[in-house]
Amino acid sequence: MISQDTIQKIQNKVAILDIVGTYVKLKKRGSNYLGLCPFHNEKTPSFTVSAAKEIYKCFGCGKSGNSIGFLMDIEKFSYVEALRWLANKYNIEIEETVSSPELKIQLQTSESLYIINNFAQKFFSEQLWDTEEGKDIALSYLKHRGFKEETIRKFQIGYNPEARDSFAMAASNAQFNTALLLKTGTVVQRDERLQDNYRGRIVFPIHNPSGKVLGFGARIIKKNDKAPKYINTPENEIYVKSKILYGTYFARMAIDKAKECLLVEGYTDVVSLHQAGVENVVASGGTSLTVDQLRLIKKYCDNLTIIYDGDGAGIKAALRGLDLALEERLNVKLVLIPDGEDPDSYVNKVGAEAFAKFVSENKKDFILFQLDIALKDAGTDSAKKATIVNQVAETISKINRAEDFTKRQDYVKQVAQVLKIDEAGLNTLVNKILRDRISKEDNKFNSASPVTAEENIDSTNTTSASTLFLSTEELNEKALIRNLLEFGNNEWEKDETIAAYILKQIDPEDTFENPQLMEVFNLYKTWYLQGAKPTDKNFLYYENNELSNLVIGLMQSENEELSSKWKEKYESHIPTREDLYKEEVFSSLHYLKLRKIKKLIIENQLEMQQNPSVEQQIIMMQTHLELKELEMRITKELGTVIVK
Ligand code: UTP
Ligand code: MN
Repeated sequence: MISQDTIQKIQNKVAILDIVGTYVKLKKRGSNYLGLCPFHNEKTPSFTVSAAKEIYKCFGCGKSGNSIGFLMDIEKFSYVEALRWLANKYNIEIEETVSSPELKIQLQTSESLYIINNFAQKFFSEQLWDTEEGKDIALSYLKHRGFKEETIRKFQIGYNPEARDSFAMAASNAQFNTALLLKTGTVVQRDERLQDNYRGRIVFPIHNPSGKVLGFGARIIKKNDKAPKYINTPENEIYVKSKILYGTYFARMAIDKAKECLLVEGYTDVVSLHQAGVENVVASGGTSLTVDQLRLIKKYCDNLTIIYDGDGAGIKAALRGLDLALEERLNVKLVLIPDGEDPDSYVNKVGAEAFAKFVSENKKDFILFQLDIALKDAGTDSAKKATIVNQVAETISKINRAEDFTKRQDYVKQVAQVLKIDEAGLNTLVNKILRDRISKEDNKFNSASPVTAEENIDSTNTTSASTLFLSTEELNEKALIRNLLEFGNNEWEKDETIAAYILKQIDPEDTFENPQLMEVFNLYKTWYLQGAKPTDKNFLYYENNELSNLVIGLMQSENEELSSKWKEKYESHIPTREDLYKEEVFSSLHYLKLRKIKKLIIENQLEMQQNPSVEQQIIMMQTHLELKELEMRITKELGTVIVK
């Protein structure tokens, strides 16, 4: 963790004009500064900065905050990342209160790797621009491919000479530690000597989102069947392939503006598209996308458009595991580039405008695209068609957030039409898959990592409260449903009903352990969204007997446990449920939130054990502390409502 002292130093030093001024051209207006808002497109400036108050505000889109908030917003930094960036800018040494010696060593290693990579990038660039060999062999090749000097400089593309050890020598002269040098992958050890690993290759630096060099992709110049086309940096403390997308540093702002991220396969595709003015583009390196990469994209925008060449193996790799993107709530579209071209060659052939037009006109929805391919594959084989129905239902079920309910129904409708099957049937299938998955995950969750109350709640007087809650899981789920059915149409606040409030607060997938209760909740939501004002009556004659019995039972029970707590609280006067409905809704909601936070804490802890990078670890530790704090707060709030 960054020490409080350091944070104080940063806060004393930071000047908002400095920070915002890096991104926005500002003009003085009275006591404030005015510019074009970087968060939305505008022609007349409505973005103001107050140097005295250290804040910014856009009167167009309403965004506002301080320097740290600005950096977090524009760079998509976490709080800690923003602090690091500022410390670096103002030359403030970061004092870390590091918890373990291993972490400290890891941090030092990462720092060293960045330093060597930076050195190497400069070396490779010098070789490209300032040596005869570089100019003759590499620069001419790049120009021949259509890359302009400006583009080559922007992407810091370089060249590693053919000699056995020109970089290794330079690095030894700079007295870098051998073990660390080997870690960066820029050199290899042969016959007890260090040799260059990228000899005779064009070198593409790979930057992290804030522009530091994580590693390299080194492309061969002369075609050679024996040598690989690219040599990439091996995995190390900072180069973790599954978490990296090439080009994020250059694409970030454009993605933000376009609200869309284009994904291509190769380094050269990214560079060419940038040069043509299509800047919201990153590359995956031809492998299937990982969850971490998808999350990175999701940090920038909600829309992912994958652009691959139609006949390549790449598209298959890209499609594999794309269901994950749906779980991350990304809208995925696909575009295939025709006739043996790739994005690089195609944009060079037709130009930027035609390229953009082609992309926007040929975007296909990912789910329907997949369905298309599968159907062509299956032909008239009815057994195969049945498999397809199951597969597509599985895919749709990955759209599993409450707020995406409409989107899921849309897909059910469209897919049912394409497959010429009954929509209601498909819907049932999707719901069944959803339910099965949830109960499976819950079992896994329960057996893999039982959490005790002691572990999760610091040993203040909240411990007894949390133990009590843990034993009332189902009770609270039931209470919530009952609140909904009984008081849903009552008022929560002016102009908002209890139902509206609960539906807004609750994500059923994350909330209900009991699949039947979740189904009741989802049904309620469906009817509610269709404009009905559902009550328990709607369930009395519902086609599914099990559900209607459940609801009837729920409404009849006196809810012993909860009311006994009320009894304690109010001693002799036992208020009616009607008196207390707001408090009851409040407490069941909070309880369920608390449980969700506990889950998040465990998930985060599990992720921390997966050996993440140092940066990642720091973020996770931060997350852990934040979740803990939230947990404490909610526990306390709950304590004052229920357990007195
Ligand atoms: P491509 O072969 O399409 O490379 O592989 P490219 O970057 O478009 O290069 P040009 O246009 O032929 O010069 C796509 C991506 O797959 C990864 C790289 O990330 C590359 O950019 N790749 C490919 C490797 O990592 N190793 C290889 O040997 C080949
Ligand atoms: Mn290519």
